[in-house]
Amino acid sequence: MSDETEISTGQTPDQFDLVIRGGRIATASDVFDADIGILDGRIVALGQALSKGLREVDARGKLVLPGGVDAHCHFDQPSADGSRMADDFDSGPRSAAFGGTTTVIPFACQQKGQSLRAAVEDYHARAKGKSVIDYAFHLIVTDPTAQVIGQELPALIREGYSSFKIYTTYDDLKLDDRQILEVLALARREGALTMIHAENSDIISWLTEALEQDGKTAPRFHSAARPAVAEREATHRAISLAEIVDVPMLVVHVSGGEAMEQIAAARARGLRVFGETCPQYLFLTADDLDLRGFEGAKHICSPPPRDRASQESVWHGLANGTFQVFSSDHAPFRYDDTTGKKLRGENASFMHVPNGIPGVETRLPLLFSEGVGKGRISLQQFVALTSTNPARLYGLYPRKGTIAVGADADLVVWDSTREVTIQNEDLHHNVDYTPYEGYEVTGWPQIVFSGGNVVVENGELIAKAGDGKFLECGTPDILL
Ligand code: URP
Ligand code: ZN
Ligand code: ZN
Repeated sequence: MSDETEISTGQTPDQFDLVIRGGRIATASDVFDADIGILDGRIVALGQALSKGLREVDARGKLVLPGGVDAHCHFDQPSADGSRMADDFDSGPRSAAFGGTTTVIPFACQQKGQSLRAAVEDYHARAKGKSVIDYAFHLIVTDPTAQVIGQELPALIREGYSSFKIYTTYDDLKLDDRQILEVLALARREGALTMIHAENSDIISWLTEALEQDGKTAPRFHSAARPAVAEREATHRAISLAEIVDVPMLVVHVSGGEAMEQIAAARARGLRVFGETCPQYLFLTADDLDLRGFEGAKHICSPPPRDRASQESVWHGLANGTFQVFSSDHAPFRYDDTTGKKLRGENASFMHVPNGIPGVETRLPLLFSEGVGKGRISLQQFVALTSTNPARLYGLYPRKGTIAVGADADLVVWDSTREVTIQNEDLHHNVDYTPYEGYEVTGWPQIVFSGGNVVVENGELIAKAGDGKFLECGTPDILL
């Protein structure tokens, strides 16, 4: 990046576009007090008493963090069952920005029978001119034909789509072990990162059928149909397949200790296996699916939230390095809506309820408040989990994910003392509920910058639709 800044020559400009003055800067490795000088959208100086900026921001008493990178969120993703995601590339990134996230990586999902290239083109069309913050795409590979494995996927990886998700469950998405091996071998050849949704499909369908036969179709039975053992088995199998191929893998949305043990054991053996977890596994349990009437459907997601002991395990995994990434898995379906949770009405079996819950805006405040605020993780770990590590794993670092000379000026002035009671009416997604209604958090973004431009300031949107740019991802940095 040195060719794009003046800093390599030791010079600083007489005047910056923007100076963020006097804040406490946190990165994945350090916490220090400094001014940040920004020119042409990039950080060009870090120091004391920097010269003037056209705009000056007084950050004394505030933290300054690298903008969040939410590497697992779903916006406007087509589905096979007729449901519709509530957030598109307009409302989704806007909601993310209000919560302190400045880069999102949603998924271009191949439908079975569709070319992967067509899925990517379709997704670009959906995103065009809408996002207020920068965005990249992961791919979802559901149909690894010879054409996809031999031509489309290698070409797309080289063009900047260097990560893809595969599934071991959901009939319209899942791959069998042989297909997974083929895809992993391709990831190894091309240096791509594979993300895996690991739950044993046959266990789930067998249990689901048995529950249905017993008339056990209420939302709460979603948890019974997807037990931790099904997640543990698929996680173990996925890691074994990656080990055979000798390729890195990231296990996404890990819900508790059983799957974590598989990841920790693999890492202890020196395998490049990474783990991601999400707010729902820290703040919800299976009891949240057991609400009056159909309300538990709001919390149907897969894997399902477990129990208090699982929450504790996940906190430990965030602190001890079993997890590298903390994402939202924002999968937004409206509750009181026949395109969402009530797709098949209020009496539908859990198996027909669209899976997923919203959380792109509340991800950082929840983890900051309960993690950093309560001493469970350090501020540096918070930055690593929510920004630096996803930027590294998905080939966006050091442009994204840190505060350093040459990095994009994607920054958050964070008020670590602001107390907020989370209420859906104050959020900016297009979902009619939040799972975290009434949660009291301390710490909230005050100003959010993308490329040195203000996106959100004091609760007001300043950026315009289309200000965000598409990002090509480079080679994943798997040396975490
Ligand atoms: O239930 C979930 N997690 N829905 C979103 C899709 C996925 O599998 O991540
Ligand atoms: Zn998944
Ligand atoms: Zn997801």
